[in-house]
Amino acid sequence: MTGSIAAYKAAILVRLLIRAGAEVRVVMTPTAKAFITPLTLATLSKSPVPVEFFNPENGAWNSHVSLGEWADALLIAPATACTLAKMATGVADNLLTTVYLSAKCPVFVAPAMDLDMYAHPTTQYNLDSLKSYGNYVIEPDEGELASGLQGKGRMAEPEQIVATLTQFFDRQAHLSGKTVLVTAGPTIEPIDPVRFISNYSSGKMGYALAAELQQRGARVILLTGKCALTPPAGVQVLEVLTAEEMYHAACTAFKSCDGAVMCAAVADYTPQQVADAKIKKQEEAWTLTLRRTPDIAAALGEMKGDRLLVGFALETDHEQQNARLKLERKNMDFIVLNSLRDQGAGFGGDTNKVTLLCRNGDQTDFEMKSKREVASDIVDEMERVWHSKPQAAQS
Ligand code: C5P
Repeated sequence: MTGSIAAYKAAILVRLLIRAGAEVRVVMTPTAKAFITPLTLATLSKSPVPVEFFNPENGAWNSHVSLGEWADALLIAPATACTLAKMATGVADNLLTTVYLSAKCPVFVAPAMDLDMYAHPTTQYNLDSLKSYGNYVIEPDEGELASGLQGKGRMAEPEQIVATLTQFFDRQAHLSGKTVLVTAGPTIEPIDPVRFISNYSSGKMGYALAAELQQRGARVILLTGKCALTPPAGVQVLEVLTAEEMYHAACTAFKSCDGAVMCAAVADYTPQQVADAKIKKQEEAWTLTLRRTPDIAAALGEMKGDRLLVGFALETDHEQQNARLKLERKNMDFIVLNSLRDQGAGFGGDTNKVTLLCRNGDQTDFEMKSKREVASDIVDEMERVWHSKPQAAQS
């Protein structure tokens, strides 16, 4: 809990969480104590409420690491603009923010502040950063604020916060027993020992999908090209360099999977020959001969049986038409279309704007969202398709 007037609702929140079956430990920032006493929250949560790094009376240490390890979820409610800023930038100057930095569990924030503070670009930027790190934001409500003003900034009601957490934990069981292959990132096709052909894929969308699938209880095999990202904890990571390597690894891994999401930006061509030594420049123009790489998605489409196959299409023109052709040709269940025409969609960034095209002709257009939220929409659709399919056959 942080120092906002909405802290008065924290007592009810603790009550509701306990009623829903949770074990609750409360950590407060020093300012939160001005709004509600640790005694109230310690009584309701049946645990001491640490505020400082250590108890000044006896020197007992409040370990932020063990608190972070203990929790299955960390909920910061109310979350002030100040704490959100500290979380977004890694300022660990109180027990709560150090718990946040050491926690490996899912993190939820329920912002609470005046409307102008909430609408300020800095706060919005910080919230976007927090979402891009995989944290969940429980949107504040609109209405009467403590200042007397009307607008967006009231902390979501405790019932709403508990419902969000309950739904999150319910979902964790949705994909248990399923194994999913996710391909991610770019491939690198060497020309000689120092040069290569590649593309701008960052791997962010694929890694977000791996995290979301794992969060819902699936076993995830993340088959990744070279990316500067840390894979989500608990997923099995297979690292490859070239399209050819990705192809072999994917065909082997897919056999033991119930489905695959093909998110990698695989090179369509690779140099016919890789030179052993650095190619020297010459006066005349130089022609590099390329050959086709195997189409991994199409190969998995041929062997898929009852497995689920999801692909991506990044198009610059005739988007829908091209994506639909790919969906059919590669025998996918649905395809995620992102257009390079939409600003903030596609390669590199933290956001994406997608359209899902299904085999039965259905189409769903989504707004611009963080890649983690897009991953959640895609996994929702995967769940829907799985429910409508007979039991996945494995060979
Ligand atoms: O044909 P195109 O490359 O546009 O198709 C994109 C989809 O196919 C993506 O899902 C991508 O991961 C997959 N793909 C693949 N192997 C290739 C080329 C594309 O798996 N060689």
